[in-house]
Amino acid sequence: MKTIDVETLRTWLEEGRPVTVLDIRPMHERVEWSIPGSMHIDAYDALKANDPKALANVGFPGDIPVVTVCAAGKTSLIAAELLQAWGIEAFSLDGGMKAWSLAWNVAEVPVTGDTVHVLQVRRTGKGCLSYLIGAGEEAIVIDAALDPQVYLDLAYHYGWQIERVLDTHIHADHLSRSHHLAQLSGATLFLPEQTRVSFPFTPIRDGDTLEIGTVLLTALRTPGHTSESTCYLLDRRVLLTGDTLFPTGVGRPDLAADADEVIRRASDLYTSLQTLLALPPQTIVLPGHTSTPVAFDSDPIASTLADILEQVGVIHATREVFMQQILARIPPTPPNYERIVRFNEEGLMPESGVMDLEAGANRCAIS
Ligand SMILES: [Fe+2]
Repeated sequence: MKTIDVETLRTWLEEGRPVTVLDIRPMHERVEWSIPGSMHIDAYDALKANDPKALANVGFPGDIPVVTVCAAGKTSLIAAELLQAWGIEAFSLDGGMKAWSLAWNVAEVPVTGDTVHVLQVRRTGKGCLSYLIGAGEEAIVIDAALDPQVYLDLAYHYGWQIERVLDTHIHADHLSRSHHLAQLSGATLFLPEQTRVSFPFTPIRDGDTLEIGTVLLTALRTPGHTSESTCYLLDRRVLLTGDTLFPTGVGRPDLAADADEVIRRASDLYTSLQTLLALPPQTIVLPGHTSTPVAFDSDPIASTLADILEQVGVIHATREVFMQQILARIPPTPPNYERIVRFNEEGLMPESGVMDLEAGANRCAIS
């Protein structure tokens, strides 16, 4: 039986190699998350019942390999076997969508001038956006959400040494890889000043600056999504907003907070957004998450403050109305977020079960 692992499939997609990805899951699973560009046929029940006609009505372009995908890589084996019996080169995705959670791709953010390169490293299987910023021979990583080796390999490719690793806040929807990346690379770990984490870090405060090559990164403390949330302004023109501000929404203020704290954070978020919106309208905004699978298109997920002012109506409201509106629109909490927060506060990775712990779509934004 031919199977394919996540790393191989993501490389094929990144290289633009022709492949048909066939998602055979029930529709309610597909709408939660999917592989960009995949085709869908809800053949799950028919395949489980060993119906030989389960994929009979699907037309496949000839000579292109097919990768079948289900939730965990079992029913997709049946699908791949069926296709192979028809002479189609078919592979089943090992571990299914659960394993795909760790798939990623990269886009370079065009920044005028060539003194600094900004790479958006996108965890397409989960929606986490991290950044590798290089200038001269050094680089920093912000919000590492993938295996540290991904960032180390990218930095090596560009001739950079990762000198600093930063997070925008204590994450609740995924395990931060920043602590581990800093240990492996010998980089200094910077976190927004707070008393939540129990491992050593260098605190970063409002207005602190870091030099990368000849450019400056300035910390802007923006409490709201969490009390320590911090945005980073690069070279006065690129704003890394974490989960505070998104192209079509704002951060949720409720995770790991009691009722009074939620109200306080919603009010803080309003104040923080006013600070960000006072920056020049052409400022490029790079968020910490996206709520849909990231295409293998090298197209960065970015916006400008001017566009966000048009897109996100709630930021024009008065403080009172803003608070009322976002508190009324809080989405369901991410699964397992309390355990994820605990791991992130301890700077640990679970010995096993990472994919189960991080399962589920990202839900950090209110739009
Ligand atoms: Fe978050």
